[in-house]
Amino acid sequence: MEGANNVKIVALLIICLSVGALLVKAEDPYLFYEWNVTYGTIAPLGVPQQGILINGQLPGPRINCTSNNNIVVNVYNKLDEPLLLTWNGIQQRKNSWQDGTPGTMCPIMPGTNFTYHFQVKDQIGSFFYFPTTSLHRASGGFGALDVHSRNLIPIPFDKPADEYNVFLGDWYNKGHKALKKTLDGGRTIGRPDGIHINGKSNKLGDKAEPLFSMEAGKTYRYRICNVGMRTSVNVRIQGHAMKLVEMEGSHTVQNMYDSLDIHVGQCLSVLVTADQEPKDYYMVVSSRFLKQAISSVGILRYANGKGAGSASSDHLPTPPPNNTQGIAWSMNQFRSFRWNLTASAARPNPQGSYHYGQINITRTIRIVNSRSQVNGKLRFALNGISHMDSDTPLKLVEYFGVAEKTFKYDVMGDEPPSSNNNKVVTIAPNVKNATFRNFVEIIFENEEKTIQTYHLDGYSFFAVGIEPGKWNPEKRKNYNLVDAVSRHSIQVYPNSWAAIMTTLDNAGIWNLRSDMWERNYLGQQFYFSVLSPSRSLRDEYNLPDNHPLCGIVKSMPMPPPYKP
Ligand SMILES: *[C@@H]1O[C@H](CO)[C@@H](O)[C@H](O)[C@H]1NC(C)=O
Ligand SMILES: *[C@@H]1O[C@H](CO)[C@@H](O)[C@H](O)[C@H]1NC(C)=O
Ligand SMILES: *[C@@H]1O[C@H](CO)[C@@H](O)[C@H](O)[C@H]1NC(C)=O
Ligand SMILES: *[C@@H]1O[C@H](CO)[C@@H](O)[C@H](O)[C@H]1NC(C)=O
Ligand SMILES: *[C@@H]1O[C@H](CO)[C@@H](O)[C@H](O)[C@H]1NC(C)=O
Ligand SMILES: *[C@@H]1O[C@H](CO)[C@@H](O)[C@H](O)[C@H]1NC(C)=O
Ligand SMILES: *[C@@H]1O[C@H](CO)[C@@H](O)[C@H](O)[C@H]1NC(C)=O
Repeated sequence: MEGANNVKIVALLIICLSVGALLVKAEDPYLFYEWNVTYGTIAPLGVPQQGILINGQLPGPRINCTSNNNIVVNVYNKLDEPLLLTWNGIQQRKNSWQDGTPGTMCPIMPGTNFTYHFQVKDQIGSFFYFPTTSLHRASGGFGALDVHSRNLIPIPFDKPADEYNVFLGDWYNKGHKALKKTLDGGRTIGRPDGIHINGKSNKLGDKAEPLFSMEAGKTYRYRICNVGMRTSVNVRIQGHAMKLVEMEGSHTVQNMYDSLDIHVGQCLSVLVTADQEPKDYYMVVSSRFLKQAISSVGILRYANGKGAGSASSDHLPTPPPNNTQGIAWSMNQFRSFRWNLTASAARPNPQGSYHYGQINITRTIRIVNSRSQVNGKLRFALNGISHMDSDTPLKLVEYFGVAEKTFKYDVMGDEPPSSNNNKVVTIAPNVKNATFRNFVEIIFENEEKTIQTYHLDGYSFFAVGIEPGKWNPEKRKNYNLVDAVSRHSIQVYPNSWAAIMTTLDNAGIWNLRSDMWERNYLGQQFYFSVLSPSRSLRDEYNLPDNHPLCGIVKSMPMPPPYKP
């Protein structure tokens, strides 16, 4: 089901703009895609159910592109519900219009289409797309967005023989509509039913088709993403170590690992060399920090090897410890992830990148997550605010100058509320006013018993620290201010904290969310409103002509365009 071969690239154009007679400027190449989003029967855990497919596939078509390419995706919504797709980890410089979150644009209504148009500006790495509307993510709709370095830029490892996209995730057999109904009714969706690898699930000994194939002696790149709903997973390959080379858009220091924890919403790339006896080997994916473990295996086959039946259940790789010890293990692994500062690669905002440890922090935001009942219904909150989407997207009401009709800025403070133990919860659109170009520190404190992961749209950030216990300003001494990985997601272990730093220099409205999808749906997310005071096209693009309008802005006159 690897989508690469089926990508329909309608055309690849290099458009040359001639300005006057003398100056000819080559624009970056365009990649065009046409996607039909439909329901179709899938059975990731062997139980047939309604899934969300793109051009008939799950995982959906792979976007295989190069830094600075322009990506044009015409999405036809053939579901029976409004739809949006987001491009997880793509920064959308000046262009939150294309971010595909409910706060940035009106949804694509059933029976209609919308063309996303964005540039993968100054980025490299492994990313993925998925639906942000309703609980669609629980039924599929995801796929790969791989960004290669431009030809002339050296990559810090030899070109692999081939690349594989690996999507891992927990899975619920119930499907998105039933799960949404449960959450709307104020109840939890509970434990997932299993784990899939690229939409398939197998046990040791199953007669399964191989998922990936390798030729003896060659090295392969596996781009692995956790697209699940709530479960952190551990990945290991029988008989083979993995060399970590990239994580969410940054080339890392290349350490070897026997197993890697990948939390929800995270992606990384490893190199695997086929240097063992030529036969079949298991890839094992198992849950982390769940009371009842779930797992799945997939087969890696050596071409010209012993073939079917040759995978052995002996000598399986050892899983990492679980419980408290496992958390310490996982935190140590996080600390071993370092950015390779000497590797060349496209980097957004290079000035801020190299010396982030020397920039003065202009704002510190401390966020504590909580779980509670509001009027007898389950809600999740950040600093006491449980986000609710507005009828008209936040970005649109702001752009049309009618934000005050829809939401109040800064209902959530920069500090957790001191009283009531964070249990008094307000349900409202949660928008934080940010000052353009501020360098901010965000501390996530998780006082609950379950692991969290957070993702920020529009930016990458430096993941400078994760520790058990409570955060205080003294802890800044323990931050990695030299070579923390620049990435877009971070996990927060139970009764622990995590700290990130970033420069809010991308104008737009950007979602900061819990990637635990039940928590996200029931309120654990907010938006940063980052406005450039100059209202200039240098900082932000105008509302694109093809954007659907809805709600209170539908019949309003267009605001004056930004100045060039
Ligand atoms: C999408 O569906 C339309 C109508 O069924 C069909 O003509 C078109 O070829 C499909 N496109 C792709 C890329 O599958
Ligand atoms: C993906 O893109 C890279 C870089 O342009 C290219 O080398 C590779 O062949 C492409 N892979 C596929 C399957 O199209
Ligand atoms: C819908 O698709 C058609 C081509 O079939 C295209 O011309 C049109 O621009 C698309 N609509 C939007 C809103 O992108
Ligand atoms: C970092 O990248 C450089 C440049 O490509 C490479 O030579 C070096 O081996 C890498 N360092 C580590 C520790 O991975
Ligand atoms: C915890 O680890 C032990 C030993 O590896 C294993 O047998 C057990 O199933 C694990 N429990 C969970 C919940 O993962
Ligand atoms: C950071 O703050 C210190 C003390 O307030 C000041 O002396 C220094 O110049 C500032 N550094 C920068 C780069 O602004
Ligand atoms: C947001 O903050 C900026 C500067 O920090 C301020 O000028 C502006 O008035 C604020 N906007 C709102 C709506 O609070």
